[in-house]
Parts: sequence; C-alpha cells; structure tokens
Amino acid sequence: MKILVIGSGAREHALVWKIAQSSKVKKIFCAPGNGGISEIAECVDIKAAEIEKLLEFAQANQINLTVVGPELPLALGIVDLFQAQGLKIFGPSKSASALEASKVFAKNIMKKYKVPTADFAVFTNKEAALKYARNAKRPLVIKADGLCAGKGVFVCQNLAEQEKAIQSILEDNEFGNAGNTVMIEECLVGQEASMIFISDGDNVCAMASSQDHKRIFDDDKGPNTGGMGAYSPAPVVSDDLFEKIKTEVIIPTIQGMQQEGMAFCGVLYAGIMITEKGPKVLEFNARFGDPETQAILPRLKTDLVEIILSSLSGTLDAIKLDWDKRACVCIVAASGGYPGDYEKNKKISGLDKISQEKDLFVFHAGTIKQGNDFFTAGGRVLGVTGLGNDIRQAIETAYKGINQIGFENMFYRKDIGKKALAEISV
Ligand code: AMP
Ligand code: GLY
Repeated sequence: MKILVIGSGAREHALVWKIAQSSKVKKIFCAPGNGGISEIAECVDIKAAEIEKLLEFAQANQINLTVVGPELPLALGIVDLFQAQGLKIFGPSKSASALEASKVFAKNIMKKYKVPTADFAVFTNKEAALKYARNAKRPLVIKADGLCAGKGVFVCQNLAEQEKAIQSILEDNEFGNAGNTVMIEECLVGQEASMIFISDGDNVCAMASSQDHKRIFDDDKGPNTGGMGAYSPAPVVSDDLFEKIKTEVIIPTIQGMQQEGMAFCGVLYAGIMITEKGPKVLEFNARFGDPETQAILPRLKTDLVEIILSSLSGTLDAIKLDWDKRACVCIVAASGGYPGDYEKNKKISGLDKISQEKDLFVFHAGTIKQGNDFFTAGGRVLGVTGLGNDIRQAIETAYKGINQIGFENMFYRKDIGKKALAEISV
C-alpha cells in the first residue's frame, strides 16, 4: 500500500514510524512532515490545512490510505472531501469531528447521552457571561468554544481572572471565530488521564492509557503548552476504572453520535479528570494525542495499519490489540521562549549518539534536515522516548537519552513521570 500521513509533529513521526513497520506498506508520504520524518518517508510540501491540494496529491500518487494527524484538516472536512472521491481516509467526518472542534457541541452530546462531565453554561453575550461568573462558585473554568490549539482554556481563581478571560474571548476576539461563544464550567479536581479509543462508528477498541504534562514548568506550573511529556500506561487508571471509562464515556458517546446520524469513525480521545465522584470528561479530541501517541505506539505490538483498515471496514470487533507490558515515557525538548515566541535554526547535537540505542526513540516535532544535520524549526522540537521494564526504568532511559542531546537554549521538564511513580508507591 501507499500511505499518506498528514501533519508535521512528533505524533506524526511516531505514526509514520509505526506504519512503516507494517508488512502491508510499500511507501509512505508525509505532508508536510519534518526533518526526522524525512528519514523514513517522503515529505511533501503541502500544509495540513490545504485539503484540496492534499486531495490532488493523493489522486495523482494513487494513495491507498490517508491517515490524518492534527485536528484542523478534520474540522475543515478533509474526510468528507476524500471520501466523496472514493479515497480511503482515516478520521471522523467534518460533522463528527465537532466533538473536538466545538466544546459546546461536545457538551450537548454529553448532556443528551448522560456522559459524566463538568456542569456548564454557554454564553455569546459578555454581560450575561459576566453576571453568571460573578455569582458562580469559584474556581471556574472559562473556555472558548472552537479550536484554539490548546490555548482557549482559562482556569480562573478569582473574579478578576474570570473577567479577563471572558473579555479576551468574547470582546477582544483573541481566538477569532473560535471565541464567538464562551463556555463556563465547574472546576473539576483530580488526576488527569488521556484515554484514546479507535472506533469504526459502532465498535471501539482501546489504546493503552496515558498521561500528558500540559504545563511548561515542573510540578505543573506556568502556562499550558501543547504537552511537555507523556507516559503510558497511566497507573492511576486501574483496570476497573478503564472499563468504567469505556462503558460510561466512550460507548455512550459513540452510540450517541450514531443516533445523531454522525457516526464517529476514527480516533476518539477523551481527556478525563478522575474525580472523587468518578471519571468525568474534560474534553474530547477527534485524533491521536500529542505527546501521548509517542508514549503509546512504542508499546503497541499489533500492526497499526491493520487496526485502521478494520476501523474503515467496520470490523473493529474482530481485532484484539497486543501490548508490550513495559512502560514508555516521552520527554519533550523545547526551544528557548516556548510556549511564547521561540527561537529557531539552532543546530541539534547528539542525535547520532543515541540513534542506535535499544529502547530509545527520538520522535521529531519542529526540526528540519539540512545536509546531514538537523536544526530546530518549532517550539516543541523533539520527543525523546524510552521503554523500560517499569515506569522508573522508562524514565531513566528517556532522561539518559535527552541528556545526550542539545541545542542552544533547549529546555525540558525534569519531572516527567513523577506522578506515575507517586501513584505506584501508594
Ligand atoms: P481542555 O482543552 O478542555 O482539555 O482543557 C485544557 C486543560 O485545562 C485540561 O487538561 C485541564 O488541565 C484544564 N481543564 C479544562 N477543563 C477543566 C475543568 N472543568 N476543571 C478543571 N480543569 C480543567
Ligand atoms: N496532549 C493533548 C492533546 O493532544 O490535545
């Protein structure tokens, strides 16, 4: 098969790396890809949002299967576009991907199908939103409705923060049309876990549990980022809890979408808060998580292409996934300045030293390759990923790896996996 992967992050590097291991695959293209991906796939200079150009490319190159990494092309309707031309593509339709693209849509589905989530109210009018916020119990969470690359969520401790958040979303239009509507949510307390399932619209199959590290600094301090590291499995998700999330969150959502006439075929990622009252949904994503995927795929023994094809043919019920029992940890190396304006074009050293190491993988995000050298080209640059017999060993492997890599002003969190260690020591 000829496969096209869409996207340019470390998640896509991990997807390409895993897809390349399939005996079904002859050639992989990635649009637009990155420096690391260019070593195992042919990178095509088309951006993920240029869905018409991607269609032309897939048709001209007889692509047998397209796998979509990021949310934007899904929300723009790439799946509908490809399917209308008879092309195989993995991901939810435009209407189904609203589970991620509109927080209000997702909440209404959860409400209708009794999926546990935080209480919420929706506003388009600033005065009404302010009035509600003033009288509500604090802390409160204020969110822009649409896609904001993880930046449209404010956890507000006091009135001033609430007013600032509402002002920036509804009046200053900081998030463009994504901020025409604001959602005000009850603040949930607990540990977070990322639960990723693949659906064929009817059946689901579970990927391993994982946990992200969203904040920029150690001990979850500082602003939110795209994700500074991940580990899998997440010890906080016991077998019972896993089953509960599947039966109380995932299955009702998939069935609800089917009843709404928007069958969800693709990756359903539930960001879960494990509260005292049980698991509650923080958000849905309509795609693989980043950096969770980098910590999950090295543990997956089953052929990913086979799983995707089963999803597309509606036969996921016949598939059983085989997992490496070991733990996996991914640490993100970021550029100076990230998550604000960040530096670029710094030469990366040390990659050759660890390329042959067993159980250590480097998934590239913002890199470009020039000659034999790699240079930084994004805020998140690399995901250094280690496997170990247990989480402690996986942490050690990953940190040993990242310590051999360097570029000017590179930084990374020093506490990736710490919560997992605390959890297993309880
Ligand atoms: P979201 O993009 O909706 O997942 O929000 C990003 C992050 O904000 C989450 O991973 C949580 O850490 C935090 N968050 C979102 N909603 C809530 C909530 N209702 N209660 C507490 N924290 C939240
Ligand atoms: N790691 C969070 C996300 O992929 O949205």
